[in-house]
Amino acid sequence: MITLGIETSCDETAAAVLRDASVLSNIVSSQVKLHEKYGGVVPELASREHLKNIMPVVREALSHASVSLKDIELIAVTYAPGLIGALLVGVSIAKALAYARDIPFIGVHHGEGHILAARLAYPDIGYPYVALLVSGGHTALYHVMEFGSYRILGQTRDDAAGEAYDKVAKLLDLPYPGGPVIDRLAAEGNPEAIKFPRGQREGLDFSFSGLKTAARNHIALFRSRDAGLDPKLNIRDVAASFQAAVVDSLVDKTIQAAVETGSKKIVVAGGVAANSSLRQQMKKKADENSITLYLPGMDLCIDNAAMIALTGYLHYQRGDRSSLDLNPRASASL
Ligand code: KG4
Ligand code: ZN
Repeated sequence: MITLGIETSCDETAAAVLRDASVLSNIVSSQVKLHEKYGGVVPELASREHLKNIMPVVREALSHASVSLKDIELIAVTYAPGLIGALLVGVSIAKALAYARDIPFIGVHHGEGHILAARLAYPDIGYPYVALLVSGGHTALYHVMEFGSYRILGQTRDDAAGEAYDKVAKLLDLPYPGGPVIDRLAAEGNPEAIKFPRGQREGLDFSFSGLKTAARNHIALFRSRDAGLDPKLNIRDVAASFQAAVVDSLVDKTIQAAVETGSKKIVVAGGVAANSSLRQQMKKKADENSITLYLPGMDLCIDNAAMIALTGYLHYQRGDRSSLDLNPRASASL
């Protein structure tokens, strides 16, 4: 079965083609450059950019996969959660293509896509596993019992981890998105220079707002209205200490979740999975606890349409179909 997947929930316009559960193409057009100067995603600009890019991206996905629109047998699209105007672009295109070709159409929950993405890289992973989804929009732990059965074990009570990275980067006058920049600077700083709080101690929920406030207060000591940031502020130490606090909390809770559920497998997904320290620490702690860590390549961790196509295909196999009346939703639980 040939599936076309479409993803436009935030600032990536993406399309992918799968033959059954194998990726034939996975194209992502990022809008980072467009939103950079605003220090975050501007919803209206994101929608317009999706509209401009969606058909070229779909055509590129078809051409990389060496198929034509006539070969597509199923269309899967992210319908929730996300920016409503952005989602609307993908959902409208997907409906139009499905209607014109008279083929089935399936709306996919973006979070379910992330949770299942690792299956493209590791088809034999099996079930159950614990999935940590950590990006600019999400920070949550799921117990994935089998396809379609996801128990939320913990989630952030305030900011997503990636959002905290982006905000702290902004406080340090660093460019958007902040994650990769802080990651790079942190490698040259002392993670113990500043004692930042670790957030939620009990249970499996996360919290990053206390950490963000502590970072803001620390940076404020070195900022004056006239002179801006004092060069005496060691931004490498701030980056390293902030990153250590985020990574400690993500790793500790994920390992705790695996131990509590008796899971021997952990999957990490989302843009923050690119973080070098998170990858190292998670691997170290997983090894110490005899847990296998599945870290798919970045192309499957960031927002992409291959994960949406796979999720749609698995739903289709189970007999699920969406009606063409399906509307996008800004929020929806899994
Ligand atoms: O999954 P993603 O591309 O989009 C969604 O938010 O859904 O994730 C983007 C987030 C941004 O907040 C970005 O700062 C963060 O992932 N990020 C990182 C790194 N690379 C990207 N955070 C920490 N370290 C990184 N190396
Ligand atoms: Zn995402």
